[in-house]
Amino acid sequence: MAFTFISEQLSQQKKQARYRQRVCTNNSRDNLNHIIIEDKSYINFSSNDYLGLNNHPLINSAMQEGVDRFGLCASASSLVTGYQYAHQSLEETICQWLNKPSCLLFSSGFSANLALFHALGSTQAKSSNKAAFFLDKLSHASMIDGAYQSQGVIKRFAHNDMTQLARFLAQVPEDTNKLIASEGVFSMDGDKADINKLKKLAESYDSWLYLDDAHSIGVIGDKGQGSNFVTNIDISMATFGKALATSGAFIACEQELKDYLTNFSRHYIYSTAISPAIAWATKKSIELTQSEQWRRDKIVELSELFLSKLDQHINVLPSDSSIHAIIIGDEQKALDVSKTLKEQGLWVTAIRPPTVANGTSRLRVTICANHSHNDINKLASTLNKALNY
Ligand SMILES: Cc1ncc(COP(=O)(O)O)c(C=O)c1O
Repeated sequence: MAFTFISEQLSQQKKQARYRQRVCTNNSRDNLNHIIIEDKSYINFSSNDYLGLNNHPLINSAMQEGVDRFGLCASASSLVTGYQYAHQSLEETICQWLNKPSCLLFSSGFSANLALFHALGSTQAKSSNKAAFFLDKLSHASMIDGAYQSQGVIKRFAHNDMTQLARFLAQVPEDTNKLIASEGVFSMDGDKADINKLKKLAESYDSWLYLDDAHSIGVIGDKGQGSNFVTNIDISMATFGKALATSGAFIACEQELKDYLTNFSRHYIYSTAISPAIAWATKKSIELTQSEQWRRDKIVELSELFLSKLDQHINVLPSDSSIHAIIIGDEQKALDVSKTLKEQGLWVTAIRPPTVANGTSRLRVTICANHSHNDINKLASTLNKALNY
């Protein structure tokens, strides 16, 4: 029998309470922060729509206008005929927003991360000095995969441990092509990278700094610029699929690196360009993100309310973002608490290994600009009861 490992691994997942299943959701039309599952409505605390922009009428009409002007599909890769005015215009918007010289669009954040590591640690690069990638231990799977699929040397430093990072940087030969990589806001913990320290270390060791701003874009900075609000990041990546509420991703960097990726990144060259209509809608989303500071203020206000209402014995990780991780520990217990919340009309997905470390199964609560005070009060009081306080 071929591929017997499949059924073995699936039953192992079930035994460990790690089995994953999708649920089919519908967005409620009346209440944008609610999802409907099997005819029951839940307040959604597991969405990455941090700014509450999903289904915004202006973004929806920009999408419609984009379809009318450019069509839904790019119908070719960017280097053939897929690169259109909508893409060019979105790239320019991102460059102005983040104060970056150039930008390249990808169909997903996952592929953007693969592309970057693959291209910088590729065989072409190998003909010069070797590449070494220094990744925070909590970096997203796509960065880790990109790094391991490349020819680069990989060093993973303990989460936000600048001393260990400095030690690793000092260990490689001086002429190594070094790249420090981290997330601006960490997806499963909600804390931030120490961006200023990372930048200092990058400068001291002649390294580039790469930040994945998937969870910071739109949320951090006076115009939602993410980590570039704090300091100039050499290479910034972010997905459009979270706070910006569309789909796709970008890498913003120096012109020469953009030219290199355009010439050598297999993920860019051999993939259909993102939908021009989505690019057009994303431009509108960025405009709203820049101008509507109240959305960021609301996240802060509701997060403070949530923490003030939560029993002090609950183990919630410190966070400066929309993401609040409540550590439960055991996989089954996390599933049980999630189920109790569901019974009360609250949707909070349990996050289990291997997404997070063994023994740190958690409820990842995301607080979005379109939640209400009542939503937050209900979540906190139900959690207090479910966790027996
Ligand atoms: C930190 C981080 N990077 C990259 C990605 C991938 O982005 P995308 O969903 O656009 O593929 C995600 C999650 O989706 C993420 O959380």
